[in-house]
Amino acid sequence: MTRLRTAILISGRGSNMDALIAAAKDPSFPAEIALVLSNRPDAPGLAKAKAAGVATAAVDHKIYAGREEFERSVQIVLETYRIQFICLAGFMRMFTPWFVGRWGGRMLNVHPALLPAYRGLDTHERALADGVKIHGATVHFVAPEMDEGPIVAQAAVPVLDEDTPQTLAARVLMQEHLIYPMALRLVASGAVRVEGNRVLGAPTAQETALIVPDAAAAPRRIS
Ligand code: GAR
Repeated sequence: MTRLRTAILISGRGSNMDALIAAAKDPSFPAEIALVLSNRPDAPGLAKAKAAGVATAAVDHKIYAGREEFERSVQIVLETYRIQFICLAGFMRMFTPWFVGRWGGRMLNVHPALLPAYRGLDTHERALADGVKIHGATVHFVAPEMDEGPIVAQAAVPVLDEDTPQTLAARVLMQEHLIYPMALRLVASGAVRVEGNRVLGAPTAQETALIVPDAAAAPRRIS
């Protein structure tokens, strides 16, 4: 089996990166993590990737005059490592249509909300402010518009009375770590196909739609 040579792009701590690297340690996983690249040379995730034995690179966006110049450097690194697929994992830079066009259908992102709700930043704060009872995470193909593109997998979690943005973020993050490797496996193995805005063909619903019951998500407060 040839495994899809995948780069993970990060900007920070890289916990989703950890989950993807761990899943890809299994030789039967259809993607191998051939590179971790960060736009921030001091991203804590880079050290973790190195410690896990994965090649790393930093392309500091601050030294480039514009987004496309930055992306052209990223592209050269990706080509050097013969990368075939990209997973964005807490990568906090928007891409130009040039880069998205180059990687169309070959780039996934994880977002901490049930898209199309709560695109953008501060998703947990906004979900709490709106009083929603269900929140979650999404893995989707990257489209030129921010946080858009065909959805591969989602996980829904309950919002509890005592939640803060931090506790809600932690509950959602646990699910990101489950659905991101699951989604990459489905896409890299060719199990799913994109039709318009839909990703179809997953062998079971549980592989794309996780609904996490209250009891599994957090201990109940007994009053
Ligand atoms: C994750 O919660 C991810 O969903 C979010 O950043 C965090 C990165 O954590 N991404 C976005 O908000 C992108 N719009 P990690 O570095 O520990 O994986």
